[in-house]
Amino acid sequence: MNEAIRPGPDSAQAGADLPALSVIVPTFNERENVPKLYRKLEAALAGIAWEVIFVDDNSPDGTWDVVRNLARADRRVRCIRRVGRRGLSGACIEGILASSAPYVAVMDADLQHDETILPKMLALLQSGETELVVGSRYVEGGSADSFNKSRAGASAFATGIAKRVLGVSIADPMSGFFMIRADRFEHVAPQLSTQGFKILLDVVATAEGKLKTVEIPYTFGSRQYGESKLDSMVALDFLGLVLAKFTNDVVSLRFLMFAMVGATGLFVHLGTLFFGLTALDLPFPEAQGLGAFVAMTTNFILNNFLTYRDQRLKGFAILRGLLAFYLVCSVGLFANVGVAFSVYDQEPIWWLAGAAGALMGVVWNYAMSGLFVWRKR
Ligand code: GDD
Ligand code: MN
Repeated sequence: MNEAIRPGPDSAQAGADLPALSVIVPTFNERENVPKLYRKLEAALAGIAWEVIFVDDNSPDGTWDVVRNLARADRRVRCIRRVGRRGLSGACIEGILASSAPYVAVMDADLQHDETILPKMLALLQSGETELVVGSRYVEGGSADSFNKSRAGASAFATGIAKRVLGVSIADPMSGFFMIRADRFEHVAPQLSTQGFKILLDVVATAEGKLKTVEIPYTFGSRQYGESKLDSMVALDFLGLVLAKFTNDVVSLRFLMFAMVGATGLFVHLGTLFFGLTALDLPFPEAQGLGAFVAMTTNFILNNFLTYRDQRLKGFAILRGLLAFYLVCSVGLFANVGVAFSVYDQEPIWWLAGAAGALMGVVWNYAMSGLFVWRKR
């Protein structure tokens, strides 16, 4: 062993209470639930060397502060407070990678996941027969009675798509409750999407059937405190994840959304152009300019709400971002026209040249927007 990492004289004692299991709990506005979950874990995991890592995205209700206070009283509790970021999958990934335990579980903070099955999940992994254990609502004995009709339908529909398109064979790939061997997770981690919330589906699809998996049933409870953070946008996230995985990550979720927003911009542009020409009686160049201006503006707004909603610009930053976006898109237009011209020069096929130019434009706009408009803080 390298001298620098040789354990110090106290290590035998220090290593004695290393956790066998880390429970990763992503939180956003869950302050009432955190202490309740902690008590439940303590009871359920008696006799097991465990720790819990809460990953909080700087909740406005101060969830991280509640976690800190628990952590001061019990060293098995840890708090990762992330600032300037949002996202369930990203939070889970960071929490898991912050753990050094051989086994990690992911569960929600809101007491909807049944913590009493954790010891059974751990035993299954420790037996060596399996590498991933999924808490499943859709195998014999499991249920999601607390789901309302529309949510149950949406969940079943998404599960069907995931199974068909990605060839995922487990019954509940949308579960937010699972336990996995840490080394197996580390292996797939670099390929996972930090956006969205379907981390289990991502793990299973990325592992391409190479993870020995067992599902065990549990009943999805109902939330008592706080509210669900999953809005209608998660459907978009889900489709993006399926597409990205389906294309082997050639197209990222963000790029796809950016391109889709760009496509809506075309309609906005044409609509405004038409309006400028007919209703405002503008000469063509002015109407065309107006169309571009309005389309860039709506594109910016949509991107800020959809594509980059985890990094959404707010307040004064919106204005700065909008100006930067105009600039980026204007240069993108030159790139677009330049590429189209040179393609047309070689091969005078109008649609091929036009499409090549448009592709160049969207790739440019996307790359530069990521650098200058919605840059990571
Ligand atoms: N750090 C962080 N950041 N945590 C988040 C975020 C976020 O942006 N959004 C949600 N969470 C936390 C919540 O605080 C909660 O602990 C957990 O993630 C799940 O969020 P809910 O809002 O309660 O989701 P749900 O109950 O509608 O859906 C859950 O159950 C489904 C069925 O098992 C999720 O686990 C889904 O992934 C799962 O499909
Ligand atoms: Mn929930």
